[in-house]
Amino acid sequence: MKFSFIPVSILALCLGFFATAQEAKITVDASKPGVKVSPTLWGVFFEDINCSADGGIYAELIRNRSFENTEKPEYWHALRSGTGKVDLTVSSERPVSAKNPHSLKVTITEPGIGRAGIANNGFWGIAVKKDEVFNLRLWGRADASFVGPLTVTLESGDNVVYAKESLPPFTAEWKEYSLSLTTSETDPEARLVISTASRGTFWLDMVSLFPKNTWKGHGLRPDLAETIAALKPSFVRFPGGCWVEGDTMDKAYRWKRTIGKISERVTQFNIWNYYATHGLGFHEYLQMCEDLGAEPLFVINTGMSHKENVPMNKMNEFVQDALDAIEYCNGPENSKWGAVRARAGHPAPFNLKYMEIGNENGGPAYQERYGLMVKAIKERYPDMHLIANEWGGVPKEVPVEIVDEHYYNTPEFFMGQANRYDKYDRKGPKVYVGEYAVTQGCGLGNMRAAVGEAAFMTGLERNSDVVAMASYAPLLVNVNHRGWNPDLICFDSSRVYGIPSYYVQKMFSENRGDTVLPVDVDASSTGPSEGMVGVGTWRTQAEFKDIKVVEDGKTLFESDFSKGTNDWKFLGGKWSAGNGTLKQDSDEENVHAVAGSPNWSNYTLTLKARKTGGTEGFLILFRVQNETERIWWNIGGWQNTGHGLEIGADSLRVPGKIETGRWYDIRVEVKDFTVKCYLDNQFIQEAVFPRQKVLFASATKEASSGDLILKVVNSSAKPVQTALNLTGFTPNPEFKVIELASEKPTDENSIDAPQKVVPVVKTCNLNETASVYSFPGNSVTILRGHPKK
Ligand code: AHR
Repeated sequence: MKFSFIPVSILALCLGFFATAQEAKITVDASKPGVKVSPTLWGVFFEDINCSADGGIYAELIRNRSFENTEKPEYWHALRSGTGKVDLTVSSERPVSAKNPHSLKVTITEPGIGRAGIANNGFWGIAVKKDEVFNLRLWGRADASFVGPLTVTLESGDNVVYAKESLPPFTAEWKEYSLSLTTSETDPEARLVISTASRGTFWLDMVSLFPKNTWKGHGLRPDLAETIAALKPSFVRFPGGCWVEGDTMDKAYRWKRTIGKISERVTQFNIWNYYATHGLGFHEYLQMCEDLGAEPLFVINTGMSHKENVPMNKMNEFVQDALDAIEYCNGPENSKWGAVRARAGHPAPFNLKYMEIGNENGGPAYQERYGLMVKAIKERYPDMHLIANEWGGVPKEVPVEIVDEHYYNTPEFFMGQANRYDKYDRKGPKVYVGEYAVTQGCGLGNMRAAVGEAAFMTGLERNSDVVAMASYAPLLVNVNHRGWNPDLICFDSSRVYGIPSYYVQKMFSENRGDTVLPVDVDASSTGPSEGMVGVGTWRTQAEFKDIKVVEDGKTLFESDFSKGTNDWKFLGGKWSAGNGTLKQDSDEENVHAVAGSPNWSNYTLTLKARKTGGTEGFLILFRVQNETERIWWNIGGWQNTGHGLEIGADSLRVPGKIETGRWYDIRVEVKDFTVKCYLDNQFIQEAVFPRQKVLFASATKEASSGDLILKVVNSSAKPVQTALNLTGFTPNPEFKVIELASEKPTDENSIDAPQKVVPVVKTCNLNETASVYSFPGNSVTILRGHPKK
């Protein structure tokens, strides 16, 4: 089902009411326990995207530690003082490991006034704290000309030294060195410097700096790991995503390249546009899952990248990879791969139960490869739960146990999908909603997005017999490398915060319950009912004039461009006013000028518009709340082939085009939930805005405490007074309330204001006979009642 405009004719038949009242009623029947809540329902999806592994949770502080990134020593700088002469080159002579065939050659022909060497700023700064201990390891060698010594410092960008130690003299042969540094100050943007006062040439490789304290001693950044742990995930899907596929097969994720000594792990270009060291390798992912108390769910490449498919006669290697991965996780210490695991420090099995075959693959090529892999795995490991992709349909060749669905869309789409699984075939495969997030109209992760996802999640929970697992995507972003937006947990070198969606995930996961209870929600519907007006273009130049907004014969607004454009706000474009017209001269996409009040509701917008160049026509905006919450009539859109009413990702189109150089009279009439559009006084199209339910809810019961847990999402801007009817449950009057709400749907958290939107925990008294609760506007609320003793 797709959320969309409704043509007026159909709407007239199916509209029950135009509800404006905000009163509602929610009935939970605890005497009729329903399906079990899947114990694996809420998990996380960790993809190495947005520098979430290197530069993220993997606590390595040096960027490009093995000099493999490019032909230049990326992220390393020569440090020169006075007349110092330092030359840095990436060398291929005598590498430490053939798998990482480069090292850094440092030639100092003139040390200058005291020191010459190299510096690395880590991933947008190395965060150090007062009295913190860091462990440095590196490989080094020198030619006879270099006598040293080399000094290692952690210091500020302007040379304030926080920690200092010396390295022993290098020899002609590669040797690994290590030392500890204790910092005297706190600085989130420190750097590592290796310097000397001597002339000569030396080589460095695998220069690694870790804080001594990592999460559970396993090499992860504690603040990020704790933030994930707080979600109490029941599983971790890893390591991707598109990262598993790669753009081409040589860039696909192959787990065997990611195990063993770090110098032996091949540095690899990541599809998300940076280099991955694989320091967070297959073993470390499994260790992370164990430390989180979460089931590992490994996604294996199935011989398919974004651009290539491995021929079927070469697929054995991929089948073997899958079998070996399982043996690595579960095999005894005396098995081939179980022994490798034991040597890596984990003699006990990791107990892998879930494996996904490919990511977002589909079509006949996937069907064939999926069938091949599943048959081989099931033959050897019949109990393994295998997850299929569903790009273009669920595989047919072999029975499918679980299918992975992905959704990225608008808040309204997700609200519209809250009942998606109510009628799903209970005899078909179980569903894993492996990736979902509001990605449109969400800023960098705002409250409206969190509300949309929460509405959807009530549907996942209510249908937990069919939806076995779900995970938001993506999980992490280093705010300095945002390859995807939005992301659940945002961080820089020293700070971390969750977007509102993070708190929704946490609230649902912490308050699961084990049995679903039937819930009936009797509440009104809402739609985009108020907003400003505007004009815009899409790769087109145009002029606009005589823009007028009238409500019931009263003029709300009349443009007067002779006085300039002070009344107008612009988004992109090259706008100017002159001769009574507003001109847009750039060729950009999606440029707007808006004016008026966000509280205007029912009005007629009239104007004249003329196209002066470009490929399309005009955008006429109305009910504009902000850059993303708005509706527009696109006249001459889709390469000047049609006119269409567009809201979010949806559109209602009719054929049509616009001539260059001709003035058109445009009229848009908006009344309640209906819009009618005219061009040169000729009726072109009309539609009814899609309306959403205001309230969404799900309820569960927790066996251990006997608690009734009610989750309610209010998608409207206003509080909703709601009568709560909890039958079959006699509660203590005092309920625990966990409430995530914000004044504006566009509210976000940020690095500087990380706690703007966070849940509040409080209590309320709900009287058994007349319980009324007011759910705030833009909110997600959990009410938790204990049974009366
Ligand atoms: O979550 C980001 C990306 O979205 C994933 O890599 C991919 O599976 C999907 O297209």
